[in-house]
Amino acid sequence: MSIHGEIKRVTSHTLQSMKDKGEKISMLTAYDYSMAKILDDAGIDVLLVGDSASNVMAGHETTLPITLDQMIYHAQSVIRACQRCLVIVDLPFGTYQGNSKEALNSAIRIMKETGAHAIKLEGGEEVSESIKRIVGAGVPVMGHLGLTPQSIYKFGTYSVRAKEEEEAEILMHNARVLQDAGCFSLVLEKIPATLGGEVAKELRIPVIGIGAGMHVDGQVLVMHDMLGITKNFSPRFLRRYLNLYDEITEATKSYIRDVKSKDFPNEKEQY
Ligand code: KIV
Repeated sequence: MSIHGEIKRVTSHTLQSMKDKGEKISMLTAYDYSMAKILDDAGIDVLLVGDSASNVMAGHETTLPITLDQMIYHAQSVIRACQRCLVIVDLPFGTYQGNSKEALNSAIRIMKETGAHAIKLEGGEEVSESIKRIVGAGVPVMGHLGLTPQSIYKFGTYSVRAKEEEEAEILMHNARVLQDAGCFSLVLEKIPATLGGEVAKELRIPVIGIGAGMHVDGQVLVMHDMLGITKNFSPRFLRRYLNLYDEITEATKSYIRDVKSKDFPNEKEQY
């Protein structure tokens, strides 16, 4: 709480002091008001309006089709729900690569139209000019290395990244470049745990892992995976805390049964 009795907002500076104190950072994705409210009330540190909305909300096979307008819609819904957590929004594919002016415009649209607190983008040295320009405008930027789903057609698979020494060295180099460009934190996706730990030790800024092992400064999962809403996605790094697919199926079957049998509504459930 603040001295005014308001809930104290998590900021990029809070994440830095958590790293400095050795306190792990908790992060999940969110895309809508109702779920974001539950996660924020439960005390999550960071919510990411991820472009994984393209998969779990819209049913696309990849993150490539989602648009900036669609990300803004999701982010507006999430931000309305959140009183405490830091809200970060992904810049979608095609809105920042190759042109730092366009990257800045996309970041500014997100900040102005959603009220979010930071943006995230994927890539290493090739996006460093864009990062500098966005940070220069006062917008906090989170980087994303390792498995970068927006480049899936370049790599061809969702397998573990940077297993070989050469790729690991490139990843470490890019991590330093992103920090020097001004990123306030970095996501590492699906890389060996030892490399995750080395990057977290080397960098001053917080490193959040998804499938990057136990030695990083915090963890992020896609909310639908962690709650068991998605069914056919079971990478080794995923811990499911609920089995909502099965629970919702059972609840829906019970509802259908009650309607068909005229058990619902009963006398107390009508006017
Ligand atoms: O879009 C997303 O959900 C992400 C997480 C996997 C970090 O980028």
